Amino acid sequence: MRTQSVRWRAAAVLASVLLVGGVAACGNSDTGGGGSKDDGKITMGFSQVGAESGWRTANTTSIKESATAAGVELKFDDAQQKQENQIKAIRNYIQQKVDVIAFSPVVESGWDTVLKEAKDAKIPVILTDRSVDSADKTLYKTFLGSDFVKEGRLAGEWLVEQKKTASGPVNIVELQGNTGAAPANDRKKGFGEAIAANPNLKIIASQPGDFTRAGGKQVMEQFLKANPKIDVLFAHNDDMGLGALEAITAAGKVPGKDITIITVDAVKDGMQALADGKFNFIAECSPLLGPQLMDLAKKVHAGEEVPPRIETEETTFTQEQAKEALPNRKY
Ligand code: AHR
Repeated sequence: MRTQSVRWRAAAVLASVLLVGGVAACGNSDTGGGGSKDDGKITMGFSQVGAESGWRTANTTSIKESATAAGVELKFDDAQQKQENQIKAIRNYIQQKVDVIAFSPVVESGWDTVLKEAKDAKIPVILTDRSVDSADKTLYKTFLGSDFVKEGRLAGEWLVEQKKTASGPVNIVELQGNTGAAPANDRKKGFGEAIAANPNLKIIASQPGDFTRAGGKQVMEQFLKANPKIDVLFAHNDDMGLGALEAITAAGKVPGKDITIITVDAVKDGMQALADGKFNFIAECSPLLGPQLMDLAKKVHAGEEVPPRIETEETTFTQEQAKEALPNRKY
């Protein structure tokens, strides 16, 4: 009996030695955040895409407010939709030896070099909202954000259901996000795959409107001039859809009736347009990523394992659902 209890105690001591050693090893590894100033506070360098949409404004507010609530010192940079500005900001954060770098990549490609520089400096990187197409998944710790392909698919599936009795061609125009951005590529893909279920549904024009109201208005004006029969508009975000409303009304058409309008995001202005019958359907994309991002930053800084992909929970809205949700909509 006594020999057994001595053995148990020896095993417990060995286990705690291994555990402490393991934690220490984690702290010194790539996962631990090489820039720590050991002042107990995490410093995060965040490079934001820009301020192109209502979604982006809500996302920036969520990140700033959550950093304050979590006691994370935030260094924030607005890249004005330019990749070179994001690369510059990330290099600055590396030089400043921040503990964690987070960013929402304006486009998917071209990040390997700067991500490798962060990895060499032992600063963990978290992708938020949008991802990169790097083959080397060790260049970042995790990606927190929406499934953009799913959003496009949900939009397309709704349209397929609405037009299931259409006997002739249904002409669709598409307002894409900025060229090369993950949500533009993925929403186009998901929507295209879904509408392939009905050969009557045809995309007759598709162009980038850069996720802005001005872009949406300008491109929709061109679409209307070039195409006498437009039945459906699929806009990759609410803001472009809202810009397009102006062009549609100016062309003497009734949005939501003459042209069915489907968008993505579900920000307040978009939800109001849906409740008013100017939009017909919205696939939600949540910008409220701040609290989860701060939590992840603390974990990767502490050397804890985090899942490589964390997907945001989202829904869709019809007119009736928008009316119901609007009074409590946070953004
Ligand atoms: O990456 C998310 C997208 O970027 C949003 O759908 C759009 O509004 C924003 O500009």
